[in-house]
Amino acid sequence: MGSMAFEPEGLVFDPAPLFSRRVQRWEPGASKPNPETFPFSKISITLNGPEEKTLVLDEAALAEALQYGLPAGHAGLIKWFEGLQQAVHGVGSATTWTCCVGNGSQELIHKAFQVFTDPGDPVLLETPAYPGVSAFLRADCHELVEVCSGADGIDPSDLEQVLANWPETRRLPKVLYTVPTGSNPTGRSCTEMNKARILRLAKRYNFMIFEDDAYYFLNFEEDPSQRARSYFALEQEVNGETGRVMRFDSLSKIVSSGMRLGILTGPVPAVQKVVKITENINLQPSSTTQVLALSLFRHWGYTGFVEHCAKAADFYRQKRDAFAAAAERHLKGRATWEVPTAGMFFWLKLLLPAGKDSFELLSKKGIENRILAIPGMAFLPNTRKACQLRASYSLVSEPDMDEACRRIARLVDDAWRDEFAQYAKSEACQEVLLLTARKITA
Ligand SMILES: Cc1ncc(COP(=O)(O)O)c(C=O)c1O
Repeated sequence: MGSMAFEPEGLVFDPAPLFSRRVQRWEPGASKPNPETFPFSKISITLNGPEEKTLVLDEAALAEALQYGLPAGHAGLIKWFEGLQQAVHGVGSATTWTCCVGNGSQELIHKAFQVFTDPGDPVLLETPAYPGVSAFLRADCHELVEVCSGADGIDPSDLEQVLANWPETRRLPKVLYTVPTGSNPTGRSCTEMNKARILRLAKRYNFMIFEDDAYYFLNFEEDPSQRARSYFALEQEVNGETGRVMRFDSLSKIVSSGMRLGILTGPVPAVQKVVKITENINLQPSSTTQVLALSLFRHWGYTGFVEHCAKAADFYRQKRDAFAAAAERHLKGRATWEVPTAGMFFWLKLLLPAGKDSFELLSKKGIENRILAIPGMAFLPNTRKACQLRASYSLVSEPDMDEACRRIARLVDDAWRDEFAQYAKSEACQEVLLLTARKITA
């Protein structure tokens, strides 16, 4: 890794005492092949749009794109992102914080957990939670401590209660994982007020906030000044110090998911530890996709990047509106929902007979009716029955959304029909019928 100067400015929380035992064991290591043996002489990409602009990697860029690079990521791309974070989140220059690149944000989140937790440690998870994270935490035998979320995102009162009642004999959790914008699966976004309360709790109870903002750029609020600022942006103002936020950005939803590029922004010592793991596990993120992305970003500039994201958000906003209209047409009285404020997911709470859950429904009748939706149970870290389901409107055409909502409505109606049929056969029902018949004939 290139040397990252760590010269604290103002009040900076040092996260090192929270590091795990396992991360202390990682050591550095790579040797370069001769590029003359590589079969490529040119990479060019043509952009969508009326101009069909073609970006060609020059000799120097190609040499970098095809060779091993730094474990933290391409220095030019990191610098570009540090500038983006300053512009978007209004933070000072990258001295106490820095960025590194990963093969998607997923990889970075996984590594960041290794930096702060040892297997078995308790972890706080905003619930419902993205299963891509709860699955690997479960595999590492972490205790998954659920913190509930509502229409305004994660609930600080619930978190406070969890922490205030934490047994004195057990170590407090060191990490809270949350998806604050257009959450997967709920589509909810956290308000600035809730974020401020969470930040204060982080300082009081000494834990890190893992801000997984994979849908940050797919925000449906068109006026940026009306959007909730990020934890990363708010920390200094709220806590009077920085260093507790590990922020994860993803290029998957706005540039390409196949390029596998994600960015971690966080306190220098913690990012350095993540990079240390990269050095040992997979050496570096792909040079080729990083150089391609950098060439695109240099062509766009920050303004072009933000404009592109606004277009992507507009695309999903239209999809969201179409799904909301289809839900209104078919699901009123059969489900409840909040209209998503960002991202690509609708979280439907099916109004099912007591004791019925969406997993049972979707895995039997859902498959018969060709409904592709994920049962709510998949998003509850400590698996249990749920009547919610997650519908994704990303790839679905308007006619298909209409059909999907119609089929979900039928599923709910069928569940009630089955319930009534069962009740009709029950002794309790026979008794009621008998009594009624007696009353009529008396
Ligand atoms: C909340 C959340 N975090 C992280 C990821 C992973 O993103 P990436 O493709 O950058 O690894 C996803 C992917 O769907 C996601 O929904």
